Amino acid sequence: MKITIAGTGYVGLVTGVCLADVGHTITCFDIDERKIQELNGGKSPIYEPGLEDLITKNLEAKRLHFTSEPEQAYADADCIFIAVGTPENEDGSANLSYVEQAAIMISEYIHKDTVIVVKSTVPVGTNERIARIIKERVDPSINIEVASNPEFLREGSAIHDTFNGDRIVIGTESQETAQLLRSIYEPLNIPIVTTDIRSAEMIKYASNAFLATKISFINEIANLCEKTGANIEEVAEGMGYDKRIGNQFLRAGIGYGGSCFPKDTKALNYLAKQYDFDFRILESVINVNKYQKDKLFLKAKELFQDFTGKKVTVLGLAFKPNTDDIREAPSIDIIESLLKENAQITVFDPIAMGNVEELFHDKINYANSALEAIQEADMVFIVTEWREIKELTLAQYKESMAQPVIFDGRNCYPLHEAKELGIQYYSIGRKPVE
Ligand code: UGA
Repeated sequence: MKITIAGTGYVGLVTGVCLADVGHTITCFDIDERKIQELNGGKSPIYEPGLEDLITKNLEAKRLHFTSEPEQAYADADCIFIAVGTPENEDGSANLSYVEQAAIMISEYIHKDTVIVVKSTVPVGTNERIARIIKERVDPSINIEVASNPEFLREGSAIHDTFNGDRIVIGTESQETAQLLRSIYEPLNIPIVTTDIRSAEMIKYASNAFLATKISFINEIANLCEKTGANIEEVAEGMGYDKRIGNQFLRAGIGYGGSCFPKDTKALNYLAKQYDFDFRILESVINVNKYQKDKLFLKAKELFQDFTGKKVTVLGLAFKPNTDDIREAPSIDIIESLLKENAQITVFDPIAMGNVEELFHDKINYANSALEAIQEADMVFIVTEWREIKELTLAQYKESMAQPVIFDGRNCYPLHEAKELGIQYYSIGRKPVE
């Protein structure tokens, strides 16, 4: 069976590489020739632990191919996965132009019965639209089946998530298509849920919206803990033992970022509005997150009022550890707020520094290590909980900073240590140490 994946972003590339690794012959297609050249040389355009090794291994085994020639990718494919981006439009809706362009291109090249699998996160009803786009364009004697197969991998642990997923969702009206997809995924040995197409599309949005809700909920509990004197770490632990609640996604912080939760919550809310449905919980989740992202800066503003000439360090720039992705990262909002206040900013991130430099150029300083970044600082913001950042001890902050004041958005240190060392330490959902 010849399988082609359209799009070599996070989802497409990781899916393609992992399916090749379990023995399928995979062609990954992208219109970006430079990216394809890099991939053919074994170089990944995204930072993802373990990905380059798997690319090289499967290129050598000749199970994995990269091309920017649509003829080569689509003409004799049995199954084509569409895994291109669906970024956010200005009004919050999902931008479907890349998915549609991929569908149009595919229809120009296929000349036999083909199964089209939509992996991109798309609003309910889009798979049907894709089916129409292709069927209108191909020879009517060709049978086209479209299936929804949403993705649940996380950046930073994408390979692990693909091989150890909790479930695979297949939305199709055709038994044969379901069977074909089952056979593709069988080597992964992961439970498979088969649904109708619209439900599969909804499962993806509902899952991300639910996880975002958990985060906004725990952030609000943290905010209330700050007012009442409770400790969010202890509260979350106590809640997490309840199996109905679960202990994951209860880490309070400075809001969810990245390329998925922010855009998917907004797109689901937009979809609800299209159906005249007032999705009250989701709207609150989105608003709580907006507030939470400003929270660390507002704490600092309350304390310092004037940042002019203050040496401020921002530790961690990626939206979470193990990725270079800075999309919707709280660090960007914090840096922008600090720049408006005329602070002298130094930043450090183990991987994402280049991406931030493209945004801020010489408006801020870039350090080579977390330790270098905090030297002589008047205050430090801890924004991403990278191992390299958590390894700094509070004693090192105390020794290195001009004035030991820490705003920790990820609760990296115990309160008693800060107290013992005489560090002013403001974290999330815990008592301030002053
Ligand atoms: C998320 C989902 O977890 C995946 O299942 C989904 O496939 C993916 O979106 C997607 O739609 O493609 P991802 O955005 O890579 O994955 O990252 P997560 O690990 O889920 O973290 C998202 C954000 O939530 C981060 O900013 C993280 O710091 C924040 N978070 C997460 C918290 O603030 N607290 C937590 O307890 C967990």
